[in-house]
Amino acid sequence: MAAKKLLILPGDGIGVEVMAQVRRIIEWMAKKRGVAFDVTEGLIGGAAYDVHGTPLADSTLTDAMAADAVLLGAVGGPKWDGLPFDKKPERGLLKIRKDMGLFANLRPAVVFDALVEASTLKPEVVAGLDMMIVRELTGGLYFGEPRGIEQLPDGQRRGFNTLSYTTSEIQRIGRVAFELARKRNKKVCSVDKANVLECTVLWREEMIKLQQAEYPDVELSHMYVDNAAMQLVRNPKQFDVMVTENTFGDILSDCAAMLTGSLGMLPSASLGAEDAQGRRKALYEPIHGSAPDIAGKDIANPLATVLSFGMCLRYSFDMAAEADMIDAAVKNVLKGGLRTADIMQPGKAKVSTTVMGEAIVRELDKMA
Ligand code: IPM
Ligand code: MG
Repeated sequence: MAAKKLLILPGDGIGVEVMAQVRRIIEWMAKKRGVAFDVTEGLIGGAAYDVHGTPLADSTLTDAMAADAVLLGAVGGPKWDGLPFDKKPERGLLKIRKDMGLFANLRPAVVFDALVEASTLKPEVVAGLDMMIVRELTGGLYFGEPRGIEQLPDGQRRGFNTLSYTTSEIQRIGRVAFELARKRNKKVCSVDKANVLECTVLWREEMIKLQQAEYPDVELSHMYVDNAAMQLVRNPKQFDVMVTENTFGDILSDCAAMLTGSLGMLPSASLGAEDAQGRRKALYEPIHGSAPDIAGKDIANPLATVLSFGMCLRYSFDMAAEADMIDAAVKNVLKGGLRTADIMQPGKAKVSTTVMGEAIVRELDKMA
């Protein structure tokens, strides 16, 4: 079997530290499970700007296109705040998503039993939560044209963006959500603002048509985005799969992440369309950012990135057994009482990024 080609893009800030822990797991997979990955590393975000003068070099994009999967840390930091808009670290991330055609962003929000008390919400509200946010990632308000900032004759300036979706863009993200729901509890909640925004009137109509034509076995409901934000903190367990517009998904997934105790716990997968062989281009990243305030201190939580690698094994390499092992290792380490600072609780042991990474490998050893 051909070696699995992995491109690692640690990016900026804590991206570098958390990705180093995934490296341990990759080495472990090679040594203990005989799964060889052909790993190359590249630059994205501010780190790429410092070397190439752009947050995503063409050569890196070419490597990403050729890889079976891309693992990404995080981008951004105050060092690059003063750069022109098109050179900012975030543009590198948005460009790689767009150019690889990664339209489907899967953001699972799962509450580990050991972390129920770490959530800011009451235990009974979050215990057992297991939901999936499917965020459209290459369209909507993030990419709609026209966009810009213009000078007005009266001396004012005007900033503008466009929210737009075509039917095919809505259908393809809808299919991803319905397919996922079929493997879960067969419920999709489509989140829009159809009481105000025409674009999302179309979104709702297309979701209804798609469900009737292709997924009659899946239950479809609709929610306005403001209500969805409220329901996420009121009663998150009512949700199975939630599907929504790019910006809405950005906001709602941060909210859902906090239900699980910390932004440092949430992985994500960004997937493209299936090719003739049934394979999808894919990029895996934690949903947290580069956290410049704690970067370089070896205190960041690596678990979201570790879990993202688990998603990579599951979705890109059909390695469900190994993915389950990673999930179990995370669960066991938490049960054993180890905590990074962001999820620290009274009576638990506060550990560094490195120690957390080593503990995951030890758990994997126990299972092998
Ligand atoms: C995310 C992040 C990014 C986004 C930023 C860093 C551009 O917030 O992945 O949710 O807005 O998509
Ligand atoms: Mg975000």
